[in-house]
Amino acid sequence: MRVGSSLEGMTTYEGKKIVITGGSSGIGLAAARLFADGGAHVLITGRTQAGLDAALEQLGDRAVAVRSDAASLPDTKALAGTVRERFGEVDALFVNAGATASAPFDATTEEMYDALFDINTKGAYFTVQALAPLMREGGGVVLTTSVVNVLGVDALSVYSASKAALRSMTRSLARELLPRKVRVNAVSPGPIDTGILDRSFPADVAETMKETYRSTNPMRRVGVSEEVAAAVAYLAFGATFSTGTEFPVDGGASQL
Ligand SMILES: NC(=O)c1ccc[n+]([C@@H]2O[C@H](COP(=O)([O-])OP(=O)(O)OC[C@H]3O[C@@H](n4cnc5c(N)ncnc54)[C@H](OP(=O)(O)O)[C@@H]3O)[C@@H](O)[C@H]2O)c1
Repeated sequence: MRVGSSLEGMTTYEGKKIVITGGSSGIGLAAARLFADGGAHVLITGRTQAGLDAALEQLGDRAVAVRSDAASLPDTKALAGTVRERFGEVDALFVNAGATASAPFDATTEEMYDALFDINTKGAYFTVQALAPLMREGGGVVLTTSVVNVLGVDALSVYSASKAALRSMTRSLARELLPRKVRVNAVSPGPIDTGILDRSFPADVAETMKETYRSTNPMRRVGVSEEVAAAVAYLAFGATFSTGTEFPVDGGASQL
């Protein structure tokens, strides 16, 4: 299923310079495709060179890839240097790199807790800190949170909290970047079929989770990455009188 295809073939983002962390797969890759198809220059990151190479094949000449671990501050500082070199100013920053893991509260380890917060929260925070100085006046930052940051879901206490912290940071960073005329908003996906569940959990667990999401979602389905990418594009460029907000793309799951 392809959503938001009305933008295909148009030059909506001609000449724009966009950085997407976690841009080699799923939601980040769908956003990169949308922007590159619309004429933007896109810089994507990920940790795996093979994933970045495969993404570049889809994205074509307007895209470049930088191997960078969002959980590493030295990597993030080096990324800012590369972005400055390649792009100078940045029109939009999509801070999307994230990870998920599940465990009941009483089985959660310190290692799992630290790993999730390092990528989802600390990594996102310092990515904005490193790249905000490069943002053009009027530019947009979009952070990927999750609908579980407002829900109490079994076995996702740490992941949910890591994204709730990021939702809070969306407000604070929006306030602090106001003087630079940079907007900061969040996109909050519900269950999106990106393969993240299949990669993060054993097959039977992933399938049970997907079936639960489908059967309990008000729209009785999970979403696709292109539906999130369309919201990201709006928040990054169209939402010129919005900052500090969070936009759910979840079939109504967090609202109905
Ligand atoms: N899919 C959903 O249902 C859903 C729902 C709510 C929120 N989200 C959020 O949406 C975002 C994207 O998820 P997705 O489902 O599209 O996942 P995905 O398909 O697994 O893609 C994740 C992307 O992030 C990269 N990445 C992971 N850890 C990284 C790190 N430490 N540093 C840099 N890049 C890293 C991955 O590449 P490498 O592995 O090569 O690093 C990949 O490009 C995440 O923040 C996730 O928490 C997803």
